[in-house]
Amino acid sequence: MMTRREWMMGPAAAGAVRLAAAQPRNIVIASVNGERACAKAMEILQAGGDTLDAVVAGVAINEDDPEDTTVGYGGLPNEEGIVELDASVMHGPTRRAGAVAGLRGIRHPAQVARLVMERTDHVMLVGEGALRFAKAYGFQEENLLTEKARLAWLVWKQSLRDASGRNNWTDGLDAPPEKSPQALRQRFPHVDEATLAWAWQVATNPPTGTINCLALNAKGEMSGVTTTSGLAWKIPGRVGDSPIIGAGLFVDQDVGAAGATGRGEENIRVAGAHTIVEAMRAGMHPREACLECLKRIARNFNNDRSRLAAFDITFYALRKDGAYGSASLWRSRDKEGRPRPQRFAVNDGTGSRLEDCAWLLER
Ligand code: GLY
Repeated sequence: MMTRREWMMGPAAAGAVRLAAAQPRNIVIASVNGERACAKAMEILQAGGDTLDAVVAGVAINEDDPEDTTVGYGGLPNEEGIVELDASVMHGPTRRAGAVAGLRGIRHPAQVARLVMERTDHVMLVGEGALRFAKAYGFQEENLLTEKARLAWLVWKQSLRDASGRNNWTDGLDAPPEKSPQALRQRFPHVDEATLAWAWQVATNPPTGTINCLALNAKGEMSGVTTTSGLAWKIPGRVGDSPIIGAGLFVDQDVGAAGATGRGEENIRVAGAHTIVEAMRAGMHPREACLECLKRIARNFNNDRSRLAAFDITFYALRKDGAYGSASLWRSRDKEGRPRPQRFAVNDGTGSRLEDCAWLLER
């Protein structure tokens, strides 16, 4: 409950008051795909481990998981069928940062980003240089394109059409145009229905998944990581927000941490994670700070809902006193028309759970 002083000073000042008063505690938050990452990170925090060790070990689960097609091994590739990964890390206690972008063939970009932070005088390495650096430190180069991701890439290539409805990657001119999941069945007879439906969905609505994970320990130390395969079918060399310090991730040991998933281009244009940390520094609750940042994104489109409807983005914020929150641009509806908020993962030592994100706009 708010004290009389907090009530008189308003919600922003109330946040600042709580920040000064509350005791830090072990807490990890992450994007919706991060329940296992949060659990792993919490295990490390409870054993007295460092917050960056915790989050990097947590997201390694997603980087290894071929079923998480937005991160690491099994991530959806660029338009040439090559998986390119981006990641960033920030370590609160030492106030250091590291990042890699456009990294090919290495499934743990977050670990390489950490090495950039710890073993170089730089903050970011990209492309060929990042790969050579990773290999110098013993990372194994491998093909990160799984059969599932390759299928989705082929479906995407076949979904493209010229003005007359043709595509060189489908049957010849004598064949009828194929534009539906049903037609796909004939071309991929050995693939099950669910996988084909998923492939069509990601081919026609390229995802920007990603995992962001933020941790606070009982000593009040904080760290964060963001790791991704980026926008599916991107132009080779496209870099999103995830490896950009201040956009996909920002940690200020004095205030808190923030990160993002979703359409990176819009986040870069508002320096989202940094904006959120600064809003928390000014006294906003993490959830309000995320909403404030979303308002800036909406403002970049003159609040035009029809243009904003083309994408989504979700922010996550964890304050130094353990307060946390998340907000997405959109609240969706399920097939029955019921409101369905986006969700995010939280672990405060009692197991990982999903909580509802706040939202700026409603579909
Ligand atoms: N947020 C991930 C990306 O846009 O690449």
